[in-house]
Amino acid sequence: MTLKPMFPDPLAERLARSGVAAVVTVENPDDAAPIARALLDGGVGAIELTFRTARAAEVIRRIRAEVPEILAGAGTLLNRAHVEAAMAAGAGFGVAPGCNPTTIAAARECGLPFAPGVMTPTDMEIALEHGCRVLKYFPASHLAGPSALETMAAPFAHLGVRFLPLGGITLASLPPWLASPSVLCVGGSWLAPREVVQRQDWATLRRNAELAAQLVRARPLADSASELGERVHPGGYCPQIRARSLSPDRA
Ligand code: 3PG
Repeated sequence: MTLKPMFPDPLAERLARSGVAAVVTVENPDDAAPIARALLDGGVGAIELTFRTARAAEVIRRIRAEVPEILAGAGTLLNRAHVEAAMAAGAGFGVAPGCNPTTIAAARECGLPFAPGVMTPTDMEIALEHGCRVLKYFPASHLAGPSALETMAAPFAHLGVRFLPLGGITLASLPPWLASPSVLCVGGSWLAPREVVQRQDWATLRRNAELAAQLVRARPLADSASELGERVHPGGYCPQIRARSLSPDRA
């Protein structure tokens, strides 16, 4: 049986258009909207709120209500209860560090687009068997880099697999991940470090977002959509290229 892919194309395109997603652990829900606003003003259109605090669902709810323009996802979803809470709060997508079929099944049942974490081809086979095509590559910076990711992805490229590399990535290490053909969007906490959030330094968050957005705009483009589309997914659809071609600043 072929399962319906969990990430709708418009959602994947939205992530690709942002290029980067800020991973943030928010302790105080009153900080939620200022964080989202600062990132959005700096040019980052996606945020992942981690379920590492008891108030994570409330944080997502506040962002959905107060800064609806940003794509707000839920991270560190470790079990069914997390998935259900994220969905009820209005999360646009969910991410996990590992590949747990029980959590994937919960996300499918709820209708939450979900990216499990993978670091090996075996993880990928499990994720694909459960209908996941967008995968968190974790812990990206402690693995062998974008070329290793592309090598691992090659046997699966015809299935349209795309990655969210996360884990230890910084502004300095961002460009090669952005240039990696099978990468949809690069995530990390470097955009909104905990100490910056704790001192409510929204100007620094905005500046971090601006610097990342500059690199997203500068990422290399293929000569044509079809050329890179063929490299990524022979004969198939390449959401990153479509998203780039939709981006007004690339027109
Ligand atoms: C996480 O879940 O913590 C993300 O992968 C972000 O990792 P980072 O803090 O190393 O950027």
